[in-house]
Amino acid sequence: MALYALGDLHLSFQVPEKSMNVFGKVWRNHETKAKTYIEQLVRPEDTLVLTGDHSWGKNLSLCQEDLEYIAAFPGRKILLRGNHDMFWDAKKTEKLNELYRDRLYFLQNNFYAYEDYALVGTKGFTFEGPFYLDRRGRIVGWDEQKEEHAKKLVKREAERLRMSFDKAREAGYQKFIMFLHYPPTNILEKDSVFTRMAEEYGAEQVVYSHCHGESRFHDSIIGMHNGIRYSLVSGDYLKFRPARILNT
Ligand SMILES: [Fe+2]
Ligand SMILES: [Fe+2]
Repeated sequence: MALYALGDLHLSFQVPEKSMNVFGKVWRNHETKAKTYIEQLVRPEDTLVLTGDHSWGKNLSLCQEDLEYIAAFPGRKILLRGNHDMFWDAKKTEKLNELYRDRLYFLQNNFYAYEDYALVGTKGFTFEGPFYLDRRGRIVGWDEQKEEHAKKLVKREAERLRMSFDKAREAGYQKFIMFLHYPPTNILEKDSVFTRMAEEYGAEQVVYSHCHGESRFHDSIIGMHNGIRYSLVSGDYLKFRPARILNT
């Protein structure tokens, strides 16, 4: 039995004008690449966590084909909210879980068990600038108003993440894998409320996506940090091959 993760499929079957094909070779027919890898790797007894930015559809009816595409992948599919998932109002997660019962599992203010691990998570948030650079490309400042706004979103997401951890802990889980859509730290930070929460609850791994393009792949932590393994699983970083997070 194995646990896999992959993020940012950015599907657009019902909104072809949003096709990702224009973003370079790695994105060309990426939905077919992802499906092929998933079908090669993921077995029916496995779990695949898709870490957000599933669909470009602006509402649920414009996401139908994208969600059906995902539902047809092998294994148990657990979905996390991404910043582009307009179809998913955090407060209506239960409705989505009812609608796709036994086919897709939406992770928000809840958790899912994988063996003796609890899979916890939320979208997260990261301040992404704008940053002001000098002629050498060094950061000399940033939009402080946007930074203030970002702090509020980070706080709300941290509360949602804590709810996920607490529900798992109340249910008796002591081992955690933590999922975020956004990277856990921004380019100014070494630590954040998200890394500290991972440490507080003793998460073994933190898995995130959202970062696209070579220049953004190293915006946050990859590898070991304070005893926790951090993995970036955005689709283009992995060339759409799911990362194996656990093998038990
Ligand atoms: Fe994305
Ligand atoms: Fe994103």
